[in-house]
Amino acid sequence: MNQTSGKMDGLVNQNPFPANRVDDLILQMSMARGIDGIITVLRQSARDLIGADGVSFVLRENDRCYYADDDAVAPLWNDRRLPSESCISGWAMKHGELVVIEDIARDDRIPHAAYQGTFVKSLVVVPVRKEDPVGAIEAYWAKAERPSEESVRLLQRIANSAAVAMTNVALINALAAAKEEAARARDALILAMASLAETRDYETGNHIRRTQHYVRALAEALKEQGVYAEELSDEAIDLLHKSAPLHDIGKVGIPDSVLLKPGKLDPKEYEVMKSHAELGRAAIATAERYMGSATPFLSVAREIAHTHHEKWNGTGYPRGLQGEDIPIGGRIMAIADAYDALVSERIYKPAMSHDEAVDIIVRDAGTHFDPGLVEVFAKIAPRFKEIHGQFTDKE
Ligand code: C2E
Ligand code: SIN
Ligand code: SIN
Ligand code: SIN
Ligand code: FE
Ligand code: FE
Repeated sequence: MNQTSGKMDGLVNQNPFPANRVDDLILQMSMARGIDGIITVLRQSARDLIGADGVSFVLRENDRCYYADDDAVAPLWNDRRLPSESCISGWAMKHGELVVIEDIARDDRIPHAAYQGTFVKSLVVVPVRKEDPVGAIEAYWAKAERPSEESVRLLQRIANSAAVAMTNVALINALAAAKEEAARARDALILAMASLAETRDYETGNHIRRTQHYVRALAEALKEQGVYAEELSDEAIDLLHKSAPLHDIGKVGIPDSVLLKPGKLDPKEYEVMKSHAELGRAAIATAERYMGSATPFLSVAREIAHTHHEKWNGTGYPRGLQGEDIPIGGRIMAIADAYDALVSERIYKPAMSHDEAVDIIVRDAGTHFDPGLVEVFAKIAPRFKEIHGQFTDKE
């Protein structure tokens, strides 16, 4: 707090201020980002340049003054909150006026109790922003005499550039908040859309959550073991995890008579069922067109919806893609989706045990599934069982 040389004798600096240091301070201040940045600039040079014994940065919080930072020869109010009517910054902010006080003992605007026991004898307060001030800067001297014109003028310039910085900070914060809100709205909409598809054929939304976690678990294990690691950056894994819930969004277009049929589908019904992959692709492609610009999240979601029923040997649908022509997201989802379908009860089939499900997936390596993925899946299969147990369907 007391890092700069003190002037307890109250010597008021009457020298003209070094122009280059002043310009530098003003520039630094106007570029400051965040309240902390403004405080740092103030601390670095304001007190020293003005030749004051203390400088406080005060923020307005409704009807209170928040002493965000003090830099002074002796302890002041650092980090305290005072009612506006009992501090001089409150007065200055309320009136939007500069305050110069030669002797605080003889000024009515001063809440004398607040200054009792401090070194402060004279002070200058400048509001930060004239219209509707957002804060104030206080400078103090230990001697009761009129602060120099230069000090007052410099403090005024510092406060003006702090006002610019505060406005920038407010704009940046508003932008960040809007971005965050958009991201949260997006995540909520994804889950809402996905559960729309989900609740028609499953009783709970847990299939969505399980599938998300299987996908992440498998993708992370692949990356760790160096299998397709170059396609699985942390960012890519996050995208897979986030977009996984949309893989069956196309099921909203499948009639109940097919989707909810208790028994085996006949070939014609299965053809209808298979159209969910193309329906899902088209729905997400429409969302992408409305977005007007490419977003990685939507293109990954589209890819997965489109390709999660393709098979390694080329006998899958909708396009009969083969091998690594099937995007990695689709190949990972095929395993996650099949595992969950196998160990869960469906309207058309009973649940299988974990071991049976793993056997089927291992058996189908190289025909249905990417054998490289299955090898890693087999190693971390207990993790799949754990996830299934974590998000059960029955209460
Ligand atoms: P789903 O129930 O989520 O199943 C997803 C995928 O898991 C299936 O894709 C299939 O690859 C795998 N799978 C599910 N059950 C079994 C199984 O008993 N053995 C093996 N080896 N794999 C299994 P698929 O077959 O393309 O099915 C896509 C969707 O079509 C299914 O999603 C389900 O909603 C529906 N579906 C498939 N077969 C039937 C059926 O016989 N009756 C009814 N009502 N719906 C069916
Ligand atoms: C359910 O959720 O209760 C049905 C099984 C599943 O979602 O996989
Ligand atoms: C099914 O019952 O879902 C069909 C089995 C398969 O496609 O392997
Ligand atoms: C898509 O699936 O919609 C495009 C990505 C691909 O098929 O490889
Ligand atoms: Fe599907
Ligand atoms: Fe599915």
